[in-house]
Amino acid sequence: MSTDPLEHLYSRQATGAQPSVIRDICALVARPQMRSLAGGWPDPQKFPVQAIGRISEQLIAEHGDLLLQYGSTEGLLDLRTALARRMNAEGIAGLDADNLVITHGSSQGISLAAQVFLNPDDVLLVGLPTYFGGPGAGRARGAQLVGVNVDEQGMDTDRLQQEIKRLKSAGHRVKAVYTIPNFQNPTGATLSLERRQQLIELAETHDLVIFEDDPYADLRFEGQRPPSLKALDRSGRVIHLRSLSKIFVPGMRLGWAAGDAGVIRRMVVAKQFADATTNTPGQYILLEFIRQGLLDRQIQENTDFYRAKRDFMLEQMDRHFPAEATWNRPQGGFFIFVHLPGDMDAEMLFHRAVERNVAFVTGSPFFVDGSGRNTLRLSYSQVSREDMEIAIRTLGNLIKEQLAGNNK
Ligand SMILES: Cc1ncc(COP(=O)(O)O)c(C=O)c1O
Repeated sequence: MSTDPLEHLYSRQATGAQPSVIRDICALVARPQMRSLAGGWPDPQKFPVQAIGRISEQLIAEHGDLLLQYGSTEGLLDLRTALARRMNAEGIAGLDADNLVITHGSSQGISLAAQVFLNPDDVLLVGLPTYFGGPGAGRARGAQLVGVNVDEQGMDTDRLQQEIKRLKSAGHRVKAVYTIPNFQNPTGATLSLERRQQLIELAETHDLVIFEDDPYADLRFEGQRPPSLKALDRSGRVIHLRSLSKIFVPGMRLGWAAGDAGVIRRMVVAKQFADATTNTPGQYILLEFIRQGLLDRQIQENTDFYRAKRDFMLEQMDRHFPAEATWNRPQGGFFIFVHLPGDMDAEMLFHRAVERNVAFVTGSPFFVDGSGRNTLRLSYSQVSREDMEIAIRTLGNLIKEQLAGNNK
């Protein structure tokens, strides 16, 4: 029996919410001796500590009254203008400050978009697998989650079309698609141009909105950046969500949402009741960082840094993993997704790996239908080369042992 005296008073949302398994895994493996390929956190080595220190000191001395005051809910006008210009330069024409709201990370953007669009029982289509932010925000609204297969070209839009038709003919209200088009978490896959176009067409035909969660867009190691869904959007159906976590710092909790002015106004109203304003000193510091040309330099440095890490991880995997396991070669972002041989259980492998002080994230928490038991996600973002080498060798040996039926 529960010993919680308030158990009977919790809202349906609170009782229905599931803790993030990935966060739980990260907490479990936080032991100092652990070589962790689990968390998708940026490497603190790349934080622009000195520049942020210098800028903060100067801004506080000169404008402490502004920096430490409440701000407007939509965020600093100059910062929104600067970010809108950057988006124009990326090929999203016609955006200005009114099309943007500064959020506490892309996480808050997802949550506000879900609040603005989703009613209980609306269907939210998500990747199978997908990062838990979209499904979590949908669940909090009481939406039904339906997964659509993700392969090396991103979400399979033919399957998506079939699912939409099936759901509609069964009487469901299909409302939105949550997608991570670039270097998806957890598969590292990038949505092909053809599928981007097809997704936009499907949204138009079936009157859907698209939540385009794009925190890794700027971390492209090679190849050409395809147009964002927002750039292809002719009817204002795409809510484009961005993050500063991987290209600036995650601790400031900064991101933004871009969309039609009417949608953004509704998200601003929702935000008024969530937290009223986004971290004011963080916004001023970021604005100055952009004005000094440091963000572009930071993006370039981060891209080079994480490319080298990806290369090293792939090299080690080629050397130590058995041929029966398969994995992708991401062109950017933080993640490599592994399919274990046959029906090998990633959770069992996880427990064995933790005994040897190696951690990763099992794949199945990323599948809203609970499948993917033979998959796992590896992240090269935070681990040192030395630890990566040992962790990948250990994992490769464990997979080989398990393959050979050596379950000692
Ligand atoms: C796909 C995706 N969306 C959103 C987030 C959260 O980003 P933020 O720090 O901006 O809230 C992450 C973080 O790992 C992510 O992988």
